[in-house]
Amino acid sequence: DVDGRIATLLLEWYDAHHRELPWRTPPGDLKRGIRPDPYRVWLSEIMLQQTTVEAVKPYFRAFLEKWPDVGALAAAETEDVMKAWAGLGYYSRARNLKVCAETVAALPGGRFPDSEDGLRTLPGVGPYTAAAIASIAFNRPAAVVDGNVERVVTRLFSIATPLPQAKVEIRAHVERMLAAARPGDFAQAMMDLGATICTPRRPRCMLCPLRSDCSAVVSGDPEFYPVKPAK
Ligand code: ADE
Repeated sequence: DVDGRIATLLLEWYDAHHRELPWRTPPGDLKRGIRPDPYRVWLSEIMLQQTTVEAVKPYFRAFLEKWPDVGALAAAETEDVMKAWAGLGYYSRARNLKVCAETVAALPGGRFPDSEDGLRTLPGVGPYTAAAIASIAFNRPAAVVDGNVERVVTRLFSIATPLPQAKVEIRAHVERMLAAARPGDFAQAMMDLGATICTPRRPRCMLCPLRSDCSAVVSGDPEFYPVKPAK
């Protein structure tokens, strides 16, 4: 089926061309039973909520150096956490970060919940972040849908329904594609494709591993998608 073929092509591309980012483990690790540290995944996802990858990198490294695990962050002084966060913006994220670390440290075993529902109970963890952590840290088949994924999927399938109505259809495609994939790698492959190839302006379709399955390439106008709501 086409969704399965797309997922396979995307993962092959990711294996060869993924971005190396400080919070990532090499692709395929999950399949070999090597799991990324949920603390690193959570910390990176909170930082990436409203901040670019390049801006997050040095902060992520500094936090890990100061507080290598969730217990260390739970025991930190809130003031020190706020200071280390300075410059990243949206400071409610830093306050929630500290409360969330305390919450997790107080759970039995002091470990992060390993399901989307469990993760959503944590302060600062909304539906998107819960799906991202569930898939990347625990390889759960959770649909991780952000603006990048909306752009890639509306182009792939020529979905001309405007956002946000198109979200239901986009999510259904992602769920079908996920069935064939390593969920954590699939989510991050979508992010990388959206950031480096399937960009909002002048997408690099010549380099895209999905071009032969992409209906926007056939139409010749990928930038038409996603269709924004009428003002
Ligand atoms: N944006 C949100 N989460 C991300 C991740 N894990 N890698 C790259 N960009 C992201």
